[in-house]
Amino acid sequence: MMNRQLFELIEIINDTEDLNNGGWRTEHPPVEIRLKTRPAAEGQQGSETLEQIATEIMACRACGLCESRKIPVPGAGVLRPAVMFIGEGPGAEEDKTGIPFIGKAGQYLDKWLAAIDLNRSENCFIGNIIKCRPPGNRDPHPDEITACRPFLIRQLNIIKPDIIITLGRFASQVICNSDEGIGRLRGKTHSYHGIPVVPTYHPSAVLRNSDLRGSVWNDLKRAKDLLNEIERNR
Ligand code: URA
Repeated sequence: MMNRQLFELIEIINDTEDLNNGGWRTEHPPVEIRLKTRPAAEGQQGSETLEQIATEIMACRACGLCESRKIPVPGAGVLRPAVMFIGEGPGAEEDKTGIPFIGKAGQYLDKWLAAIDLNRSENCFIGNIIKCRPPGNRDPHPDEITACRPFLIRQLNIIKPDIIITLGRFASQVICNSDEGIGRLRGKTHSYHGIPVVPTYHPSAVLRNSDLRGSVWNDLKRAKDLLNEIERNR
């Protein structure tokens, strides 16, 4: 988490506070706690923050999922990550904790991350197209995706990943703006407003069908090549 972007964010927050305190730099308690608890409007004047969006998600009642969810799952990770992974929606474990991808599929996803030298705390952001668990882990309904989509778009505008990896049909269709199935969408690089997008299968699907592992490995290798190229050109 202690990367250049985080330090820049801390500087913005400190500078804003200095302004509020008459222009003098004051002593600050530990920064990590402040980042999580600070009201967004004070943190970045004129532009919204992930914390502000998360607060809205926590209170959201835009679709019927708010009736059955326990805790919404806004997403977690670092700003300006190498990769933003976008899944479908929270499962039972995520619904209990508010943390994305911590159940079986999440533990498997962590292995994919490690395979291409990534980890959650340093260079990834992990989110979902819908932030509340569909009852019984059913597929998200079109109206639920439509209601939740603006949160994801606003998050992407702030997170600004180098590349996006979409996990499964629903995330891939939303980000690639396509009706095609995941079998057709994966295998090539798409673009989301200039950000390369690599669609692949959802980890849960691969846990159910190990025949998909080879395709996922090819997708991850292509993602890694893209990241290396981005790094070379930086
Ligand atoms: N599956 C998803 O798509 N997202 C999660 O957060 C967990 C499981």
